[in-house]
Amino acid sequence: MKQVGDYFFDQWLDENMIRSLPSGEFWDSEEEETSKEWYILDGNFEKMENYIRSRRLVEQLDDCIAYLRQHGNELSGIGVDLGAGNLWAEPHLLKNVGVEKIYAIEFSRHRLLKLGPAVLQHYGVRPDQVVLVVGQFEDIRLDDASVDFIFMSAAFHHAACPTRLLTEMKRVLRQGGTVILIGEDYQTRAQMLKRHILRYLASRLPMALQLRLFKRQVVSKSLFCGWQGLKIEDPVVGDRMYYPHEYREMFSRGGFRHKMFRSGSDACAFVLSRLAGE
Ligand SMILES: C[S@@+](CC[C@H](N)C(=O)[O-])C[C@H]1O[C@@H](n2cnc3c(N)ncnc32)[C@H](O)[C@@H]1O
Repeated sequence: MKQVGDYFFDQWLDENMIRSLPSGEFWDSEEEETSKEWYILDGNFEKMENYIRSRRLVEQLDDCIAYLRQHGNELSGIGVDLGAGNLWAEPHLLKNVGVEKIYAIEFSRHRLLKLGPAVLQHYGVRPDQVVLVVGQFEDIRLDDASVDFIFMSAAFHHAACPTRLLTEMKRVLRQGGTVILIGEDYQTRAQMLKRHILRYLASRLPMALQLRLFKRQVVSKSLFCGWQGLKIEDPVVGDRMYYPHEYREMFSRGGFRHKMFRSGSDACAFVLSRLAGE
């Protein structure tokens, strides 16, 4: 295993492999990142903390952990954080005293190997508590039934193939293990339809009025674009959107039962556990 600063890392993918993956090129480009809240190399951790607070990510994690606790299940043992970004979540996960080690799997090398160690150091995470892995989360090179929990923050909806991701999760998770997904969007078809109709109507206003009201031209899809057409997705970033019933169907097809937690009006989190006999 190699070392970056005090921390150990493993490399499952090289640059060419990363850049050939869907949205790999976008996430592996450091220039895209320097203005983002996550870019803490200037030592400004407050802007990252404010952003995390504004997205209620820690609250969502706490809801999931409290739910597990109510069901006699503490977050503990060996975990993986898939699409771990700059590793902001590791200190929070490691606050749970039973958590021994986390494999942080991420295909953006500067996020994992440059921002990650700075975050871990800032929050006092010990080198024996994490392994950084340059890898992709639909191909988790860990043994079957070798992890106690899986965590993803704002990352599940980035999977190019969620079916494959869920199959990998089920494979590496031991019986009785848990998955926590936070930072997912919550948009019902009714909400999306309302937004679409308003946008459509706005796009029909005279241009001068659009510019006065919205400071730009409003672009809208055709009125009858179907439920899938209503979704707002970004193929470059790999941002996908799922309706609540689509999450339900994916999880159950993947062999998981789930509990959903709403967070504000437009976000949600999930705790998944393997269905009996799966
Ligand atoms: C929206 S960011 C969330 C990052 C972090 N979990 C957080 O909460 O800030 C999505 C992350 O998933 C990573 N990612 C996307 N697809 C991936 C894949 N197939 N394998 C590994 N990482 C991936 C991106 O590089 C990015 O860091």
